[in-house]
Amino acid sequence: MADHDSLSLAAEPDSAALIAARPNLAMDPAAGLMLEGVPLATIARDLGTPCWVYGAGTIRARLAALRDALRGAGLAQAHIHYAVKANDHLAILAVMAAEGAGADVVSAGEFRRALRAGIPASRIVFSGVGKTVADLRVAVAEGIAQINVESREELAMLSAVAEAAGRVVDLVIRVNPDVDAETHAKITTGRAENKFGIAWDEAEAVYAYAATLPGLRPLGLAVHIGSQILSMTPFRAAFGRVAELVTRLRAAGHTVSRVDCGGGIGIPYGAGAGPSLEGFAAALAESLGSLGLDLMLEPGRWLVAPAGVLLASVVLAKQTGSRRFIVLDAAMNDLVRPAMYDAWHGIVPVSAADAAGPAMAADIVGPVCETGDTFARDRMLPPLRPEALVAILDAGAYGAVMSSTYNARPLAAAALVDGTRFAVISPRQEIAALWSRETVPEWLSDAAAPSP
Ligand code: LLP
Repeated sequence: MADHDSLSLAAEPDSAALIAARPNLAMDPAAGLMLEGVPLATIARDLGTPCWVYGAGTIRARLAALRDALRGAGLAQAHIHYAVKANDHLAILAVMAAEGAGADVVSAGEFRRALRAGIPASRIVFSGVGKTVADLRVAVAEGIAQINVESREELAMLSAVAEAAGRVVDLVIRVNPDVDAETHAKITTGRAENKFGIAWDEAEAVYAYAATLPGLRPLGLAVHIGSQILSMTPFRAAFGRVAELVTRLRAAGHTVSRVDCGGGIGIPYGAGAGPSLEGFAAALAESLGSLGLDLMLEPGRWLVAPAGVLLASVVLAKQTGSRRFIVLDAAMNDLVRPAMYDAWHGIVPVSAADAAGPAMAADIVGPVCETGDTFARDRMLPPLRPEALVAILDAGAYGAVMSSTYNARPLAAAALVDGTRFAVISPRQEIAALWSRETVPEWLSDAAAPSP
């Protein structure tokens, strides 16, 4: 999935190149690595490590850049519904709410979070292949803007829920365009063999079926072909296919006024340029821009990944046989992407003096008892002493949301930077909270009691 998986070791970007490619990061000779206007060492001192740090200013700037690109392509009316799954922290959602973004949710929990953060139901859409009746009831009762329906079966469920609530629900039909997104297999969603959406050759029949069901108002189509997409070719293919379908459905007498174009825009995890927003907006405009549609987008990663880092401390450096290991206090339970998708994340020393040292190859690992708990192999980094801080870059998306407490490791703390200020937005989980939802049946405690 890394944008430069194929590069040789020597071609991996060094810390300076990684920082130079990220406008929200800077290396101050005295204060060390800064996120926006705050030294990360200050946050680590206050909160300890591991610790997520997100930049609100970065998120706002990225949202503005995406909107500018859409406007530039004549798509000023396109609505952005942030994919909450990428980072569902209330503070991140509050930034989105304040900027007027909507939300794309996939569970009752995400829906409640978005509402809680101030995103109104009228700007929330509900995606997902397995919405339960309970999910749909909550969404319909709260007046959600749109349900993205993925099957005939779901249409019948939604119709029953809508009727019971005495509502008419706006929906779009998610189609599976059978396009290869050219990304990691585990996050490819638009191939015919994937579980998502309505099969391409059934789309017209399902749209017609939706129009016959009580309580439902089919308004258009949705498509989402995958995540971390770096080439415009799959986007063009998918949007082009959807445009053809819009025309066919209209010719058959159906109303088609909306297309939800999903998310998936990739980011450069290395030091390259990444996909151009202008190119993306142009692809959208060329295929769907002239059909008089309300267009919607569901970006997650692109908006928030580069806005976040995972701060960690070096526990120790050790040599085992021929390999050097740097063991961090962060692990796969915090950031699972390298273990799960072989994802490449930049790792940068926080102190300027550390960063300036001579680089040598090391495996950067966490303390969890699995070899998969490896953030990077053969990474060229300066020697790092115990307690030295490092920042794992581009961890703002699919980071904290995918954390677990595996190995009874408490969930990490989190801070939000905004220009030169910062606030704690999640304290580190207390050890006792790890078992706060657990009870031991009485009979076991009785058995454990000393016998008379
Ligand atoms: N819309 C739908 C229907 C989705 O399924 C997704 C992501 C998005 C929007 C947002 O996609 P984005 O713009 O973030 O690419 N955990 C994986 C990524 C999983 C993406 C799942 N769906 C990772 O860490 O790479």
